[in-house]
Amino acid sequence: MVDQNKSTAAPSLADGEERFSKSGFIFAAIGSAVGLGNMWKFPYITGKYGGAAFFLMFIVCLLAVGLPVLMAELAIGRGGRGSVSTSFNRLTKQKGWGALGFLMIAAPFLILSFYSVVAGWTMYYAVRSFSGQLFTTTDYSGQFNAFIGSWQPVWWMLLALVLTAAVIIKGVSAGIEKFNKILIPGLVILLLVLVVRALTLDGAGEGVSFFLSPDFSKLTAESALVALGHAFFSLSLGMGTMITYGAYVDKRQSLGAGTMAIGLGDLLYAFLAGLIIFPTSFAFGIEPGQGPGLVFVALPAAFAAMPLGSLFGGLFFILLAVASLTSTVGLLEVPVAFIRERYGWSRGLAVTVITVLLFLVGIPSAVSVGGAVSGLDFGGKTFFDWMDFVCSNIMLPLGGLIVTIFVGWVWKNAAEEAGLTAAWFWIWLFMVRYIAPILVVLVLLYSAGALDFLFKG
Ligand code: PHE
Repeated sequence: MVDQNKSTAAPSLADGEERFSKSGFIFAAIGSAVGLGNMWKFPYITGKYGGAAFFLMFIVCLLAVGLPVLMAELAIGRGGRGSVSTSFNRLTKQKGWGALGFLMIAAPFLILSFYSVVAGWTMYYAVRSFSGQLFTTTDYSGQFNAFIGSWQPVWWMLLALVLTAAVIIKGVSAGIEKFNKILIPGLVILLLVLVVRALTLDGAGEGVSFFLSPDFSKLTAESALVALGHAFFSLSLGMGTMITYGAYVDKRQSLGAGTMAIGLGDLLYAFLAGLIIFPTSFAFGIEPGQGPGLVFVALPAAFAAMPLGSLFGGLFFILLAVASLTSTVGLLEVPVAFIRERYGWSRGLAVTVITVLLFLVGIPSAVSVGGAVSGLDFGGKTFFDWMDFVCSNIMLPLGGLIVTIFVGWVWKNAAEEAGLTAAWFWIWLFMVRYIAPILVVLVLLYSAGALDFLFKG
């Protein structure tokens, strides 16, 4: 049986039966952080909110809020050595934290149900690009709409879920760690190949300067809040993933150094993704602020127009697919760890049951986004958009808020677990206690539309 880690009584993560190696942890966490957020969402929001100025804002948010919260999540996981809810309960006597932690178990389940839909699209596009079928038309938007408006995305989503389950079923070191250790360096190679291709296109320079020369007049409060929300999403915060991964980290590993490595890794991938997408778009006269369709509609047009486009397009979509699978793996482990710990199920059973449920919950997302099934729109948003909105804009900042309040104000031994020097510890605590919660509340209010009056007119 693949599940060597199966234990009989109460398979607590605390028993130390499952651990990452030092480098395995870094690869796995970078794998979780680097995903569709970096390659699909980051380029189109950067395009929309003004290019380089937005990118700078994103870096500031990452450093000032993202990294402190990331460190807080890892510390909770390693300190509590349990699934999300258990870790909270172990670290304080105050009641109710475990229940709050439950939010961070439901969130990754829901996010996975629509994230795997987009992961499925990337695999479909990779296959179509390599086979050349993607380029048999010039109406790329019609082609994309016809695909997402059919039932096909359901089966591609299922493939994404099955691949994710196949990794998670093997456990922490033979599954998650090994998978990421192979694929993350693979991603770097793919990225570099595509960066070289993009930068050597005629007219690439304009795209580079759009991405790298900031025009500060484009900085607005709104773009700052979007950048902050994205820093959270991109580092996989507020979703229980980093807490769960934290539970598998060796006590001797430095959380501070790990946090820096993960943050840098995530930033580097976003940077390289920008160096692929903006030069390519500009070289072919494509508007980079056109929204979610950028990668699936605009880039195929660009690939069609370049020599060996079907190869480069295929590589690009493989890159997206791999990046998304290393993230779906981190999402699935959260509910799996919880169910195993709480109900004593074997890994295999937990993974199977959750994957089947995910498939069922994912279907409405898969068929609503392109209108394959009508009647799944509420209040002007599709079911898919609602899932994304509720998870990314509400549950994720709420999860982040819970983490900052817990580490900043409730948990007494955070210093011990963090293992930072006194100066770094105070900087960290200050950010987690005061700056992060205030900014996260602003993001929440913004998402709920409560700040709209500031941005109108
Ligand atoms: N960080 C991932 C990305 O950028 C998304 C994600 C969010 C993954 C939360 C896990 C948990 O695509």
